[in-house]
Amino acid sequence: MDLKWWKEAIVYQIYPKSFCDSNGDGIGDIKGITAKLDYIKALGIDVIWLSPFFKSPMKDDGYDISDYYEIEDMFGSTVDIDELLAEASKREIKILMDLVFNHSSSEHTWFKSAIGDPNSPFRDYYIFKDLVDGKYPNNWRSVFGGSVWEPLEDGSCYMHTFDKSQPDLNWENPQLREELYKVVNYWIQKGVSGFRIDAITFIKKNQIFMSLPPDADDGLANVGKLTMNQEGIHLFLQEMKEKTYGKHDLMTVAEAPGVPYNELLEYIGENGDFSMIFDFSYCDMDVDDNGFWYPKGNWNFDEFRSMMFKSQRSVQKVGWGALFLESHDQPRCIDKFFGVKLGKEDDESFRKGSLLATMYFLLRGTPFIYQGQEIGMRNLKFNSIQEYKDIATKYQYMRALSMGATEVEALHMAEQRSRDHSRTPMQWDDSAYAGFSQSASWLPVHVNYKDINIHAQIAETASLYHYYKQLINLRKSSPYKKVLIYGGFEPILEDYSQVIAYKRFLNGEPTIVVVINMAEESNSVEILLEDMNIICSNYHSDYIDYRDNRLWLKPYEAIVLALKTL
Ligand code: GLC
Ligand code: CA
Repeated sequence: MDLKWWKEAIVYQIYPKSFCDSNGDGIGDIKGITAKLDYIKALGIDVIWLSPFFKSPMKDDGYDISDYYEIEDMFGSTVDIDELLAEASKREIKILMDLVFNHSSSEHTWFKSAIGDPNSPFRDYYIFKDLVDGKYPNNWRSVFGGSVWEPLEDGSCYMHTFDKSQPDLNWENPQLREELYKVVNYWIQKGVSGFRIDAITFIKKNQIFMSLPPDADDGLANVGKLTMNQEGIHLFLQEMKEKTYGKHDLMTVAEAPGVPYNELLEYIGENGDFSMIFDFSYCDMDVDDNGFWYPKGNWNFDEFRSMMFKSQRSVQKVGWGALFLESHDQPRCIDKFFGVKLGKEDDESFRKGSLLATMYFLLRGTPFIYQGQEIGMRNLKFNSIQEYKDIATKYQYMRALSMGATEVEALHMAEQRSRDHSRTPMQWDDSAYAGFSQSASWLPVHVNYKDINIHAQIAETASLYHYYKQLINLRKSSPYKKVLIYGGFEPILEDYSQVIAYKRFLNGEPTIVVVINMAEESNSVEILLEDMNIICSNYHSDYIDYRDNRLWLKPYEAIVLALKTL
């Protein structure tokens, strides 16, 4: 058993722009986060991951950084960050910062120098190529649409995997790498406990930059094919580790799309690059291989289950994983898993939210909770594409139209997938602007805030908030802590449709059995249970219907049992 603090932690992701606004300008800020630390502590959180708060023109809401050392004005100042770190530390809450190192903002001084002067020493910090006969070097498609190449007046062009305001950094350049390591060390010395590392599998580009057979009718090919998880990437990642966080006992969690399971060892094995990575395979089940939201991918719970279990098994073989359902890039999970029912809250919200929570929270790995997930915040209905702010949504909308979708269909797609759904302001109470701000917020507050808010759910003991707290306590301070954290994972009852079930086990510890009925109807499974304790139920019951070796499950029921043997 390889004990690590970050295996025992529970992480809460904060999207600063939408968490809490301390000065009434409608935008969340750092002082707002500091003001809510007691709330976070009371929930049982050990670690906060802060999405970027650095200087940024906010074209991609902070994932376009123009200065890695300075704080964006709308979020506050260095003094505020120091205060947040100090106040968090007083409460024994650790902070993870977001490192966005695949690209900078086009407003970064390096890029401004590079673009203004072909002989600039910073030119090689980015990827510039010459146009040939007025044509781009290749047909790679950027993640936010169109070519990855942006032409300049001087006959050259530069590469951007994401938006054109996010030029890719050239990791082949050793000075650039040293500059980035300086950033990491600066923040370590400030007192952060680790990093979430953005889009990191993209940093190593295949240096031939060749065109690929088009994979859609725009004639372009997914940039990831020759820029994601390419040979040689571990030289960069190991170097960064050695020169920065590898020297300290820190937590690193990498956003690492495109890593096949048989290559996990280098990323998260004993001498791997990171503590853990996010595996998107099962949470992106509704998105196709090129990242297109339209047409929506078909999936069902049984397929989802086998993807999630495959991930668990593969990660378990080599290292440790990150568990999540939501983030600032995902829609709200109740809507994603059970379909969007816009405009009204159905009675089953609690049941569905608690079922999903039980499903992922007790898997093997470090659980992440995204702000508002703990109260079941939902997707918001926007009436037109103009109301969306998210750069990805605008692109996917246009792309859907170009694929022949009607406006209604394209809007429906956005209703399901837009990243703005997770970015609407946090719902603190039922006062004006949901207690998020004193004035109208940058994205509208969800219409359901009077029903769904922190204040109300703290007061109501049967709420999702309290259910999350119960799960957190199980993992942190119950007699089952050891097995839930360090125990092995094994699927059970895989022959049953619409049932997600697994056990966690560890020598000398009780075995934990999690059984979840994903269906709207009752269900039953054959299972041998002896000497069991019910340790959690989303029907709040201390009784289960177990007869003749059959466990009867109510609609959307989630049950967690502890037993001596299975
Ligand atoms: C990551 C971030 C996402 C951002 C992208 C480009 O995927 O999570 O929000 O748009 O990288 O930085
Ligand atoms: Ca503010």
